[in-house]
Amino acid sequence: MTPWVIGNWKLNPATLKDTQQLLQGIATQLQKVEQHHACQVMVAPSFIHLSAAAALLASDVDAFDDDLHLAHLAHLAAKGISSKSLSTKVNTIKLAGQDVTALTDATGAYTGDVSAVQLKDIGVEWVILGHSERRQYYSEDNESLLKKVIHCAYHGLGVVLCVGESEAAFLAGQTEAVLAQQLLVLQSFIKAIKQADNAARNDIQNSNEHANTIDPAAVAQGAIDLQLSRLIVAYEPVWAIGTGKVASVQQVAAIHHFIRQQLVGFDASLIQTPIIYGGSVNAKNVDEFAACAAVDGVLVGGAALDAQSFVNIVQSFCSE
Ligand code: 13P
Repeated sequence: MTPWVIGNWKLNPATLKDTQQLLQGIATQLQKVEQHHACQVMVAPSFIHLSAAAALLASDVDAFDDDLHLAHLAHLAAKGISSKSLSTKVNTIKLAGQDVTALTDATGAYTGDVSAVQLKDIGVEWVILGHSERRQYYSEDNESLLKKVIHCAYHGLGVVLCVGESEAAFLAGQTEAVLAQQLLVLQSFIKAIKQADNAARNDIQNSNEHANTIDPAAVAQGAIDLQLSRLIVAYEPVWAIGTGKVASVQQVAAIHHFIRQQLVGFDASLIQTPIIYGGSVNAKNVDEFAACAAVDGVLVGGAALDAQSFVNIVQSFCSE
């Protein structure tokens, strides 16, 4: 399975210029990666910077800050790399949103929200859903997540579904129970799309107040695609996020095994779903995860804000 290295930038950086520099730094450093194995690279800037990031990734030159671009071209020229190959490489970085509204798939009177249609329109391909920070600060639950997953599926956006237990649950031995409950959103989703009868269509319609604008058959088709190729599950124990308390690779492998069992129980095709780990991953501790067959990649927070660290993590997955 091709591993994923995903940078979740959360509410960082503070300025557009820093965002462009970070993305350009990653693109530059990626040129140096020795690719023994393929690896999918994705970053998730904040909503306000997504457009600029998409423009930068989509064009050779136009969206680049002039000084930055000239410096970058000089750097590439010194290495004998043409800007054309930069374009090819840069375009291999995918973009994710950090959330999407549950309230509509498209447009409406929902102040402050961003929809799947809007993300798709600017070139975003994936959305991170159910991050523990969203669950904690916005009370995100399976009901709203189901709506979000359906909106993403309908518009062909991939979903990185985050699951993970709190420290209290971990200490109480409740990890599997918590994960099983969080993963139920996928069971509901798959159940809804598998049933071609009217009841299933009603399920889909009931989950969206603008249901009359959605064709259930199209939802089903988009959802089947999502099942096969546009779904990633990210195991992120809350106690490991931003704390430096990284879970051991043995713990992670065991939990990933549990998640795999749950997924396959929902549908056999989910044997192919990448299951990645997140929580205090950095360039120093990544090698063990990259070497573990049960870990299909990583979701990186803090260490993704430094281009060199992030690309070192990519290098680790390209080497193993
Ligand atoms: P850290 O890598 O900073 O622990 O964050 C992980 C995370 O929440 C990624 O989504």
